[in-house]
Amino acid sequence: MSQRVLLTGGAGYIGSHTYVALIDAGYEVLILDNFGNASRQVPSRLKAVTGADVQVIEADVLDRAALDRIFAEHAIDAVIHFAAYKSVGESVRNPLAYMQNNVGGLVTLMQAMDAADIRRLVFSSSATVYGEAEQLPTPETAPLGYGNPYGHSKLICEQIIEETAAADPRWAVGVLRYFNPVGAHPSGLIGEDPSGVPDNLMPYVAKVAAGDLPMLSVFGDDYPTPDGTGVRDYIHVSDLAQGHVLSLKALERDGTGHVVNLGTGRGYSVLELIAAYARASNQHIPYKIAPRRPGDAASSYADPSLARTVLGFEPKYDLHDMCRTSWMWMQNAQTLPD
Ligand code: WQD
Repeated sequence: MSQRVLLTGGAGYIGSHTYVALIDAGYEVLILDNFGNASRQVPSRLKAVTGADVQVIEADVLDRAALDRIFAEHAIDAVIHFAAYKSVGESVRNPLAYMQNNVGGLVTLMQAMDAADIRRLVFSSSATVYGEAEQLPTPETAPLGYGNPYGHSKLICEQIIEETAAADPRWAVGVLRYFNPVGAHPSGLIGEDPSGVPDNLMPYVAKVAAGDLPMLSVFGDDYPTPDGTGVRDYIHVSDLAQGHVLSLKALERDGTGHVVNLGTGRGYSVLELIAAYARASNQHIPYKIAPRRPGDAASSYADPSLARTVLGFEPKYDLHDMCRTSWMWMQNAQTLPD
């Protein structure tokens, strides 16, 4: 009997890629999504990629009654919790919405899981909980902090998980601290939501390469980095998805939780990413140097050794793959129905 996993936010960017990785690994998967930040076309695209009969329940993770119904009607063994708001800028403008949705959503989910006797959880956290990391590469033991309400909400969630597991050791929770997820599934059928003007670097570069946006602004070239532009640990979303499968397997194997970074341990600058994208897409990427973006760190990249030891995590996609698959998705997304 395959393990049955509920993905909250499973129609989103990372959730949909994790759906594919779980199906490939032989799991049965149920998606819960309110489609607040995901296209309603994603389930049909997931069927095209996996051939699976994609099961989706449209509901909000804050809806306790809906969660109780799901756990009563489906024999769920574990939950992966993606459903959350994730824009740093938006969180600064609307901190209460971020606390209510991100923290309230986790509490409601864990209460419903506990009531249904389900206590195996993988939680989508973020390197943003390191704040302005002093230690580079950054290990999981680095001091925690936050620079914005989004990061604060993730830190509070991690603390809630830690306190809950300490109070009841039946809980086994995998906390995964993502660095910078980028790229798309090699099929070109799923990827990051292409609508609007992206906050993040790679989707913005993708739109410039496609001619949807005229020019990239490079937020500062006077950082203490090799070429003066910001350095980040980009990780392919399919590698990240595999990290979730490995986290589930570790929870099943160990019966206890873990907190690990999911990054490659390799940092690339903005200018290096632009050059890599231009090569992968064979497109010119016009850019200009602009002032620093408030709150940005000069460099951020993971010490990935604990994920390798605890999960057996080994990223396999390189920067070229990240750019190439992002470009494939960018070209397909313009032809796929919204
Ligand atoms: C990367 C680099 C920018 C846009 C954020 C969140 C993090 C996670 C990923 C949710 C930086 C530079 C960017 C642009 C630029 N999100 N840049 N021009 O800020 O490292 O991380 O997204 O989990 O929590 O903090 O990612 O892609 O926005 O920026 O020069 O138009 O690209 O200054 O150096 P970031 P990013």
